[in-house]
Amino acid sequence: MNRTLLIIKPDAVKRNLIGVILKHIIDAGFKVIAMKMLWPDKDMGAQFYEIHKGKPFYDWLVDFISSGPIVTCCVSHTGGAQKLREVVGATDPKKAAPGTIRNLYGTSTGENVVHASAPDENPEREIHFFFSDEELFEY
Ligand code: RTP
Ligand code: MG
Repeated sequence: MNRTLLIIKPDAVKRNLIGVILKHIIDAGFKVIAMKMLWPDKDMGAQFYEIHKGKPFYDWLVDFISSGPIVTCCVSHTGGAQKLREVVGATDPKKAAPGTIRNLYGTSTGENVVHASAPDENPEREIHFFFSDEELFEY
């Protein structure tokens, strides 16, 4: 099994979508091995998204991720980060494949309900940004 990070973003938490999103992920064959609800401050958001520093949407993104509580989950699947990206769909919900989480629930390119680690952007770094080894349950 390969681990990756999923974040249910503030727009989805506010719209009471935690349950349907988790059901979607679990129905796709993922196992939840860690989960935490928190309200990131701007410093935390800026650090998490530092890979996007300098991009036109960076300041907006930091404000957005710190605009309310999030649910952060470490999930595992044989397909790992690549499989989660498939289930989540493209960044812009209008371009996301039918039946994907962003296609079903996303409202704009920014407010796209979830984050999924990119396979080439170090999912393990993102997992450990939120979870210690002791909090990751291999069961
Ligand atoms: P994520 O990291 O959240 O899973 O999304 P992603 O890989 O599909 O997209 P990425 O390029 O990494 O962008 C991170 C997040 O920034 C917001 N964004 N807004 N307005 C825009 O053009 C724009 N582009 C990106 C989205 O919330 C995106 O998920
Ligand atoms: Mg990304």
